[in-house]
Amino acid sequence: MDRLRIQGGRPLNGVIQIGGAKNAALPLMAASLLTDNTLALGNLPHVADIATMIELLVELGVEVSMNGQSTDMSRANRGSEGRLLLLSARNLVSGTAPYDLVRKMRASVLVLGPLLARAGRARVSMPGGCAIGPRPVDLHVAGLRRLGAEISLRDGYIEARAPGGLTGAAIMLPKVSVGATENLMMAACLARGETTITNAACEPEVLDLAHCLIKMGACIEGAGTDSVWVSGVDRLGGAKHKVLPDRIETATYAIAAAITGGTLDLIGTRLDLIRAVADKFRAVGIELTIRENGVRVQHVGNRLEAVNIQTRPYPGFPTDMQAQMMALMTVTEGVSIITENIFENRFMHVTELARMGADISVKGNSAMVRGVSRLRGAPVMATDLRASVSLLLAGLAAEGETVVNRLYHLDRGYERVEEKLAACGAVVERIC
Ligand code: UD1
Repeated sequence: MDRLRIQGGRPLNGVIQIGGAKNAALPLMAASLLTDNTLALGNLPHVADIATMIELLVELGVEVSMNGQSTDMSRANRGSEGRLLLLSARNLVSGTAPYDLVRKMRASVLVLGPLLARAGRARVSMPGGCAIGPRPVDLHVAGLRRLGAEISLRDGYIEARAPGGLTGAAIMLPKVSVGATENLMMAACLARGETTITNAACEPEVLDLAHCLIKMGACIEGAGTDSVWVSGVDRLGGAKHKVLPDRIETATYAIAAAITGGTLDLIGTRLDLIRAVADKFRAVGIELTIRENGVRVQHVGNRLEAVNIQTRPYPGFPTDMQAQMMALMTVTEGVSIITENIFENRFMHVTELARMGADISVKGNSAMVRGVSRLRGAPVMATDLRASVSLLLAGLAAEGETVVNRLYHLDRGYERVEEKLAACGAVVERIC
């Protein structure tokens, strides 16, 4: 199993290319199931979750081809433009998303709505528990039932049927869910009549999906707000779409600059995607400026100031940045209260950060972080993607050597992370 060895304490300076958003790419890839024409997606990140979604789509009968693959080390920090994935779901051969793939990646459940809308039936394994809490799919199921699907839960699978097609309906989500909003929006595109989704997720990735669906011929209004309206059409066609930049990767590297006292130019990304995070960064003492094709991040002043964080659905502070922000708070001046409101059990990084000398106490869904003057390197391990990268950030700031174990979590969502960091002065190597 791969590990990452980091010699910390060096400021990062240079340029980092931000890739396409994994969380936008996954539903966009699932949208290919809605049409028998080709969907061309550009700016695809090369991360393990994308490979898992490709595996799942191929299993369902989608023909997938990729070009512009950039694995050339000398190009590590330069443009990744031209990376194109072509998906053609002309001949679907299966309606089943098997346990082995859904277990690996919960976002596999995003094939449920499109498969059902296009083929009239779908069988998708229940994702089960995961490292950051139980993460049910009840909202996806209840919404599809509102659209007329007959759904039973059998042998660990969601079995959905809509022999006469789906019918538009008013759906009120009792809780904001990114995945349920995306699944229902995709299904509603091919339903008869109009659908409204209220209390919808407003995340930029939902809007990006809507933009692509509209290019494919869908009739959608209000995506990116909490009320989405879809008028069903008989069929969707192919389209060409460029995946929007990854806001979580952007904000993660911004913390890498701040925590090491360096300056990074993050290119291929947009400041407006990370407003809530940027507001907190400024309060901490991190300066963010818009540059051509990106954002410059630098640490101003002597020490960074502690701030309080509450995770919320977009446009609030994202849960996917909570662990990284906590790593930063471990070395700031003062006390920070970090409250996780989206997922249960998303503080697994706390005990590992404590092994590096952080002073953190947890009560319920809040953590109190008292800044220390220095972290010390240690062997650490995490059980989810964002927790892993928070340990990497802590390792960059720490004195001495840190080894981050179980790197496959990091590889699920960060592309060539060690190459990008090393090109900016980090002493970091992957141990296979
Ligand atoms: C997506 C993101 C993930 C991010 C999360 C919250 C993708 C591929 N993943 O995950 O990185 O952390 O949004 O921003 O885009 N819930 C239910 N019932 C459901 C569905 C969700 O109770 O049927 C709950 C979840 O347990 C959680 C909350 O709703 O407490 C939000 O989850 P949701 O927005 O659905 O997360 P995902 O779409 O899985």
